[in-house]
Order: sequence, then C-alpha cells, then structure tokens
Amino acid sequence: MKRIEIKKLLESTDYGKRVNVKGWVRTKRGSKNVAFIALNDGSTIRNLQIVVDLNAEFEKQLENIHTGASLSVIGTIIESPGSGQQVELQANEIEILGTANPDEYPLQPKKHSLEFMREIAHLRFRTNTFGAITRVRHAMIFAIHKYFNDNGFYNIHTPIITASDAEGAGEMFQVTTLNLENIPKDEKGNIDHSQDFFGKAANLTVSGQLEAELAALALSKVYTFGPTFRAENSNTSRHLSEFWMIEPEMAFYDINDDMDLAEDMLKYLIRYALDNCLDDLQFLSKRQADEEKNKKADERSMELIEKMRFVLDNDFERITYTEAYRILRNSKPNKKKRFQFVIEEWGADFQSEHERYLVEKHFKKPVIIVDYPKGIKAFYMKQNDDGTTVRAMDVLFPQIGEIIGGSQREDDYEKLSTRIKEMDIPEDSLWWYLETRKYGSVPHAGFGLGFERMMLFVTGMGNIRDVIPFPRTPMNCEF
Ligand code: 4AD
Ligand code: MG
Repeated sequence: MKRIEIKKLLESTDYGKRVNVKGWVRTKRGSKNVAFIALNDGSTIRNLQIVVDLNAEFEKQLENIHTGASLSVIGTIIESPGSGQQVELQANEIEILGTANPDEYPLQPKKHSLEFMREIAHLRFRTNTFGAITRVRHAMIFAIHKYFNDNGFYNIHTPIITASDAEGAGEMFQVTTLNLENIPKDEKGNIDHSQDFFGKAANLTVSGQLEAELAALALSKVYTFGPTFRAENSNTSRHLSEFWMIEPEMAFYDINDDMDLAEDMLKYLIRYALDNCLDDLQFLSKRQADEEKNKKADERSMELIEKMRFVLDNDFERITYTEAYRILRNSKPNKKKRFQFVIEEWGADFQSEHERYLVEKHFKKPVIIVDYPKGIKAFYMKQNDDGTTVRAMDVLFPQIGEIIGGSQREDDYEKLSTRIKEMDIPEDSLWWYLETRKYGSVPHAGFGLGFERMMLFVTGMGNIRDVIPFPRTPMNCEF
C-alpha cells in the first residue's frame, strides 16, 4: 500500500478508506481498552491521532512504542470526535520500524530549552519548533527564487572560493592545502602562496556581490543566493560564521530604485509566509508569547503575525545617516549614557542598539538609512558629490537591526581606482572588477539580505543559531 503523508490525510474526509502512514511517535497515552498515538511525519506541524483498540498483539507492540519510535501504520480513516482535527486513523496493523529507548532518548514530551536543543541539533528537527522553522525556511527559499524569477532576474552561482575580499573587512577564512606543519616561505619570510593549491592566497567568500556585478553588466538583473563566510569573532544572537545571503544586482538602477526593490522584496516574502505558512506561524507566535511571558509588558515583542502585518501595511521610513545621527545624538538613552556606545562624533558606525532605537522607539517601523560616511563603508560604493558620504543604504528591522546592506556602485573608473588605492586594497586582485568600469560602464546598484536575519523576523526566534539547521559560530562546528 502506498504511503500517504499526514498533511494530506488530515485534509481528507475519505472516511472508511484504508491507508498507510509512516512517521515518528510524539506521544502515547491510553486507558484499559484503547491507546492513542500522536504520529508526526514532518509534512505538517499537526499530528495524526492513531486510535489503537487493544488486543493481545497490539498490547505487546505498545510496550515498544515510545516517544521517538518510528512506525508504519495501516488503518482506516475515521471521523474525529475531538474538536482539534476532522480525521483520525483507526489502526489495523502496526509495524515498528525503529524503537527509541525512553531511558535514553533525549527528546521527551516536555519543554526543552533552546540551548539544550542546540546540543542535539541532530534530533531537534523532530520538535514542533524546529519542524516549523524548517518548513518556513523552505518556504522563504522558494519565495525568494519565485520573486526574482517572476520579476525578470537571472540566478547566477558565484564562487565560494575566491582570491578577493569583497567587503575589504578582512574577516576571511583562508583556504589552503599548504602543509601547516611546514609552511613554505619566500626570501622575505612571507608565506609562499605560489606553492599553494591555486598559486595564490585564497579564501571563502564573504559575499557574491563582485561577481554578481559582472553578470549584471550584461544581463541587467541578476541575483545570487549562496553561503557566505565571515571569520569575525562576534558571539551575538545575530551573527553566524556561515550564513546565506541573497544578493540582487541591477544595471541601470540608482540608490532609490535599489531601496524600492529591497522594500518590495521584503514585503513579498512576509506576505508569502503569511499566505503559505499560517499553521507554523501560529505555533511560533504562541511559542514566542510563552517564552516572553515573564518579561515586563513593554519589553515583550509585538505578536508575530500582527508584527508581520504591521510591516506590510507601512512604508519604510527613509532617512539619511546625518538625520539618523542627529536623532540618536539628541535621544534620551544617548544623553543619559544608557547606550553602550554613546554617539558623539559624526562618522561613527551605528551599533545594533542604535538601529533598534530608531526602529522600535523613534519611528516605530522599519527604517532605511542612506548616505553613510564613506569611512565606514566598503570601497565599491558610489561616492556622493559632498566628498564625505557614499550612496549606501541599510534596511533596519525591529528586534534585528540591520537586515539588508546595499548601495549604488561606483561606476567611474578613476574614482573607483583611487578609492581602492586609498583603502590599501591590492589592486591586482581586482583588475577584472575594474575593467567593467572601463568597458561600457553603467550606473548599477544592489544589496545583500542576510537570509537568517530574515528568518529571525518571520519566526520570532531570538537567536540566529536557531533558524539555521547547523549553525557555525566561533568555537562551534559540531554536526
Ligand atoms: O552588509 P553586508 O556586509 O553587505 C554585503 O556583504 C554586500 N556585499 C551586500 C551587497 O550589496 N550585495 O551584509 C549583508 C547582510 C547584512 O545586512 C546582514 O543581514 C547579513 O548580510 N549579515 C550577516 N548575517 C549573519 N551573520 C553575519 N555574520 C552577518 N554579516 C552580515
Ligand atoms: Mg552591512
């Protein structure tokens, strides 16, 4: 008999039909004559209730059926007397595929902390929370490709191993096959990368942007969606060493077109989640409320679905860095030195606490900041005529801070080349990038959306380690 997925079965009303389901036991409870097994196969957050009328054979089997065991059940669809669901399955035959010893199985039907579940990332998919997150994550990946496909973008694969530092922040993981016990050196005592695998120093990419630009300067609208790597030692709830980034790049777009696209895409993704993942979002909303129930009322998050609708219904606030700087410098927490980093001089980079103040306290909606001081931004950003700022934009979200970073790109060969020299970036590693400004250069722009930061927003989770299946962070590379 062909297996039917629980999601499908729960939607059917074929009472009396015999079907086969397979899945993992969430709970088992029972009385003298009847036992109930809640079975889940991951196709939906909802469990199928299996009704087992006890006979000698079933009774013997039930001794080996515990939370975590895997079963194949042939049974008859019956109308559910309970209110939670419309169907249940009356068991006819049960096959135990794999047992789970209740004295050892770590996932008992009780509340486990998120920290504990990180230690058992190989099993946490089997919880409601991680099942929901995984399904929402899939829906968001799918929606991203759909959004760009429907809007005339081409997906391009950018390299994971590169020899350049796209962000110039020097936070790269090196890639080498040199013998680390005996590293070859040149006459000056520097590492001799000419003997290395690629004949030069190589690293894991921090961004696919530079290569996406090359493609955009021929195909007009492209995007890359791949893993990126940052060796920064930041142990926060918003940083990963390996994360996924969506980077669209568009020829003939200026910074305003770029911001319009960023806002439209974010809203599309939120709407997609609401339209396609409501079961999981409702569960995640309850989870968040439950987790925050001991917080003071004004420290609690807005209810998840309400928060998502709120972002959909409001235009993002667009302000310049200088305006944001003035608001922050004159703000109460700044004057009372309640910010960890007090804002004094124009030109300072904003920290997450400042970004969240602007979004959550001042404007009470997402904010896009444009025209940042050039000293705190990457070499490739278009320089404004004032000589001090660049056409950069960051999109800031509640609870997260920066969710998108983007810019119009410098398309003038001389200005770009001068900036590369000023910032001490080895020009010979970027000759190909510079050449696109020599041949048919056009205004263009793009941005990067941190996929896991987006996942934080749509799931209401508080820690980025819980929205990626296997997080990589400093001192943590298990699984
Ligand atoms: O602001 P970033 O560094 O921008 C770039 O990499 C550009 N090349 C993007 C572009 O214009 N094509 O990173 C973009 C986004 C951030 O806004 C943030 O959401 C996310 O990537 N991000 C991280 N997410 C998780 N962990 C980290 N360590 C992250 N660093 C950046
Ligand atoms: Mg940034």
